Amino acid sequence: MTTTTTTAITHIANLVTNDPSLGDGTPLGLIQDAAVVIDGDRIAWTGESSKAPATDNAVDAGGRAVIPGFVDSHSHLVFAGDRTAEFNARMSGRPYSAGGIRTTVAATRAASDEELSANVARYLAEALRQGTTTFETKSGYGLSVEDEARALRIAATHTDEVTFLGAHIVSPDYADDPAGYVDLVTGPMLDACAPYARWIDVFCERGAFDEDQARTILTAGAARGLHPRVHANQLGHGPGVRLAVELDAASADHCTHLDDADLDALGQGRTVATLLPGAEFSTRAQWPDARRILGAGATVALSTDCNPGSSFTSSMPFCIALAVRDMGMTPDEALWSATAGGAAALRRTDVGRLTPGARADLVMLDAPSHVHLAYRPGVPLVRAVWRAGERAL
Ligand code: NIG
Ligand code: FE
Repeated sequence: MTTTTTTAITHIANLVTNDPSLGDGTPLGLIQDAAVVIDGDRIAWTGESSKAPATDNAVDAGGRAVIPGFVDSHSHLVFAGDRTAEFNARMSGRPYSAGGIRTTVAATRAASDEELSANVARYLAEALRQGTTTFETKSGYGLSVEDEARALRIAATHTDEVTFLGAHIVSPDYADDPAGYVDLVTGPMLDACAPYARWIDVFCERGAFDEDQARTILTAGAARGLHPRVHANQLGHGPGVRLAVELDAASADHCTHLDDADLDALGQGRTVATLLPGAEFSTRAQWPDARRILGAGATVALSTDCNPGSSFTSSMPFCIALAVRDMGMTPDEALWSATAGGAAALRRTDVGRLTPGARADLVMLDAPSHVHLAYRPGVPLVRAVWRAGERAL
């Protein structure tokens, strides 16, 4: 018989469980003056601090808040270089365009495996310091068979949530032959990449891939066991969101420009609307109206979109603050979307909540409640992190 170590975290002023059957009955399942018990890598118990069962170890939270670790369901971490000059130009008035991706493709192709892996590790360490315990990441800066497969191989050494984004833009190698590039992505590139990935994604946007190309690529991926997710409706209104719902994609990401038909589709389907406020911030784009999306009955996730072009932040707390201030979310909704919403966007039920049986991914804040994440923007409030029951920070 194997025995595991049990740890109780007690005197939590506000514990977010994301289980509406617990605590105050809201979606956050908020329990006041709470405790949580970790057994090995799992949550074993949550409830009032005074009723906590005996454990091997105890940690006194001293009236601080505890929340589930953030689930960052959308990032692009396998890249080299940065795009400081492009950001500077943009802040002087130049618009964002998908073409900047080519700069990062050149830098990424020129980098060694070791450099790329070290970059992923560095951005992940940043994210952990800000409370992220689960993250998805993508290829998309290789755009050749070898460079895409390499990016995914490296990504897979850091996370299980790996997405093949060979269809980020048409590869510069196929500038005059987009149809030939779609054949490559759905043929030899998919063959080389499928073994490393769980998901397939397409940037469905003017200047990247149109509806027919996106459908062809996502359907080919699905036939190989890769589940779709879509970069949709970021730079302008387009078919991406409707296509995502049609294909039962796990997530439609960005959702910046939506019409009523898109909202109806999101309200009716299972596809999560993932909002990426760092992208609107860093490209000075219009803000999506989260109230409209939530009002349509859609499930909303919040994520960083961490990438060197449109959103070079690894900070979920920053995204929460933006979503509250500029997208109309309440602090409770934003916290839910950054945890349980991210889990839904990855079709996961083992993370994003603190209920018995869930993975013991917890963040203790230097604050009495999760509301401070939006109320005190830019302040490093993450005090401690447990990942799969282990103290990670
Ligand atoms: O999600 N939209 C496409 N891809 C990224 C940006 C990539 C880049 O500019 O390097 C995004 O915003
Ligand atoms: Fe993205």
